[in-house]
Amino acid sequence: MEKLKVALLGYGGMGHFHATQYQTQTRCELIAICDSAPEAFANDSSEINLGSSGKADLSALPHYSSYEELVRNEKPDIIDICLPGHLHAEYAIRAMNDCFHVLCEKPMARTVALADEMIATAKHTGRKLMIAQCLRFDPAYRMLREAVLSGKYGKLLSLSLYRNSAAPTGRNGWYRDAKCSGGALLDLHLHDTDTVHYILGVPEAVTTRGITRPSGGIDEMVSFYEYANGALVVGEASWCRPGWSFSSTAVFEKATV
Ligand SMILES: NC(=O)c1ccc[n+]([C@@H]2O[C@H](COP(=O)([O-])OP(=O)(O)OC[C@H]3O[C@@H](n4cnc5c(N)ncnc54)[C@H](O)[C@@H]3O)[C@@H](O)[C@H]2O)c1
Repeated sequence: MEKLKVALLGYGGMGHFHATQYQTQTRCELIAICDSAPEAFANDSSEINLGSSGKADLSALPHYSSYEELVRNEKPDIIDICLPGHLHAEYAIRAMNDCFHVLCEKPMARTVALADEMIATAKHTGRKLMIAQCLRFDPAYRMLREAVLSGKYGKLLSLSLYRNSAAPTGRNGWYRDAKCSGGALLDLHLHDTDTVHYILGVPEAVTTRGITRPSGGIDEMVSFYEYANGALVVGEASWCRPGWSFSSTAVFEKATV
């Protein structure tokens, strides 16, 4: 089977992580990398919140400094977008209009209107658009979802999700500008909200209380997700804490996972 060809747009921490993961893929291959900062290509590994991105020798791949230069020279099937959050919608829409399928890092977009425009573009161009909500593919979260759906430990009584770190910087400090990142509310807490959605479906109501700190956006928050079955569902996220820690605990009638 012919492999799908992928070009990577954005070669910072997450771009590097994606690049190393393509080395083990059997159905797609990385054919080019693109970043507007020349120094980005000097890193042979990056430290991100998932740990070290690992090593990859990408010296044989063509390097480009702009999307325009990339698509003038290459014919990928997929553009993999690992740009800062505020650029996702713009480049995803451009790429789909240029006939490429798109894998785009989270958060999907800075606003609901832009996210809707991305979906509309995918529909009218017939291109695939996938957002990298990676926890849906994590075996631990899949196991939790299966336990809730099967009822094997009885009814779910509570689910608590914690995700806390110091504020990341990113190239040129874009994470610390809420206009670019959306603050921890959008960039980090969306993992909790997406996980809750993935495991339990759309909640009846959500209440979030938060405070503003490093990014100028909401960077420390607690959310309560209301479900008709009465389970106590809480997510907490912060960019105001030292280090990096996360945990998920589900209390069922017959087990705690
Ligand atoms: N799924 C996850 O758990 C997870 C974890 C970390 C980061 N992310 C997401 O990955 C994305 C990238 O984050 P990061 O930490 O790699 O940021 P980063 O700042 O390390 O990397 C972004 C890169 O994009 C480049 N860039 C900016 N504008 C460009 C343009 N117009 N054309 C080409 N290159 C351009 C920058 O030079 C930089 O190298 C963010 O949306 C972030 O939220 C996801």
